[in-house]
Amino acid sequence: MNANLWRALMRRKSVEAIQAQSDEESGPRLHRILDARDVFNHGVAAIIGTGIFVLTGVAAANIAGPGILISFVLAGLACAMVSFAYAEQASMIPVSGSAYTYAYATLGELVAWLIGWDLLLEYAVGASAVASGWSAYFQSILHGLGLQLPAALAAAPSTWSITQVWPTSIDLPAVLIVTFINFWLIKGVKHTAKMTSVFVIIKLLVVLFFIAIGAFHIDPANYSPFLPFGWSGVMAGAGTVFFAFIGFDAVTTLSEECKDPQKDVPKGVIWSLVVCTILYVLVAVVMTGAISYSNLGGAGEGAPMAKVFDHIGLTWATPLVSVGAIAGITSVLVVLLYGQSRIMMRMSKDGLVAPLFGQISQRFHTPVWSIICWGVLVALSAGLIPIGELAELTSIGTLFAFVIVSIGVIVLRRVEPNRPRGFRCPGYPYVPALGAIFSLVLMLSLPAITWLRFAIWMLIGLLVFFVYSKRHSRLNIGP
Ligand code: ALA
Repeated sequence: MNANLWRALMRRKSVEAIQAQSDEESGPRLHRILDARDVFNHGVAAIIGTGIFVLTGVAAANIAGPGILISFVLAGLACAMVSFAYAEQASMIPVSGSAYTYAYATLGELVAWLIGWDLLLEYAVGASAVASGWSAYFQSILHGLGLQLPAALAAAPSTWSITQVWPTSIDLPAVLIVTFINFWLIKGVKHTAKMTSVFVIIKLLVVLFFIAIGAFHIDPANYSPFLPFGWSGVMAGAGTVFFAFIGFDAVTTLSEECKDPQKDVPKGVIWSLVVCTILYVLVAVVMTGAISYSNLGGAGEGAPMAKVFDHIGLTWATPLVSVGAIAGITSVLVVLLYGQSRIMMRMSKDGLVAPLFGQISQRFHTPVWSIICWGVLVALSAGLIPIGELAELTSIGTLFAFVIVSIGVIVLRRVEPNRPRGFRCPGYPYVPALGAIFSLVLMLSLPAITWLRFAIWMLIGLLVFFVYSKRHSRLNIGP
């Protein structure tokens, strides 16, 4: 590769330039109105969702047995290492682009573009899959009330034929929930924060209720055998329940809307993860203690808390689990759609995507076009594509970002050693290095088809980069 091209691809944006650009941007700006509590809520909103409400039972029954609680501890530790890396960079670079902006400051424009492109896919697929899951839960509640949607409005078509112009069915609840959330996102970040805090309270109450009631029904005999699938089951379990931790990273997309981002964002990332990890381990202790792990499998394994309530004779509490799951899934959806619009906005301000997506509404102080663009795409894909099988793209996309952010800490300590850091990653360089290695190992455990889909998306990203982004980059006219 010619040296000039290499230099152009690897050009970095200094932390100073990123900060100065964000301070000097003209036109309407995002509102800095969030405090430490909002940031913490946003983290819990992002983390607790389908992972704990759905995956725990499947993983305990089929993969790890009662040892699932060690899987939770391991996945939590791996995420903790990465969360320190996010926290350090968020304390130095308080703008909304998250891993995308950190990569711009550390590994250069091409890597930044690729990570931004990767995050857009991760958030879009994640949000579409979560919206389909929301619809399934919602319809099960309708079903419980004796109501049923017509088949043409209940699910995405299971197949599409090349000659077909119109879809044969649509997942209407999924389309409506995405549209509703986007409406709130446009209205402003304070409205969004209020909405998420309601969902956070509901799901926390359900989780705490489960732990408090279940704890009285623990029978130590259920912990034996503790590792029916051996240590390999525990490791595989950690890979599965990793999904339950995804989301703490999304807190960093709040940076430009916080009153004191350099303090509140690092704290929000770490504390939301700590609190959720403790809750997850307690849920796992109670779940596998109150019922034999083998009874968590089979029919209904996707609603393990309901199984436990049924087992201990608390059938009246079963609908609570659906309420908790709906609240959890809705708040995860809010955070994904929110994060995506802020990352796209940052990429646009850097010139790498069209200027329209960086425009902030004078009235609402939100990046309206970015929200509308992704809102429409996510609503259509959730409504018309059976997206479930693509959901693993969310994990691979997240893990890729984790690798880059962990390496980024090491790079920044070398290139900007004296810049003040509100938070310093402990155990440097081992902790970020282990965070990167562990994320890479988890990536490698994902199926080949997920890698293929990921590679295709990245190749399209490279094409867009060379055709549009590189030519329009703001760096072409100076730092
Ligand atoms: N951590 C989120 C969930 O479990 C993605 O739904």
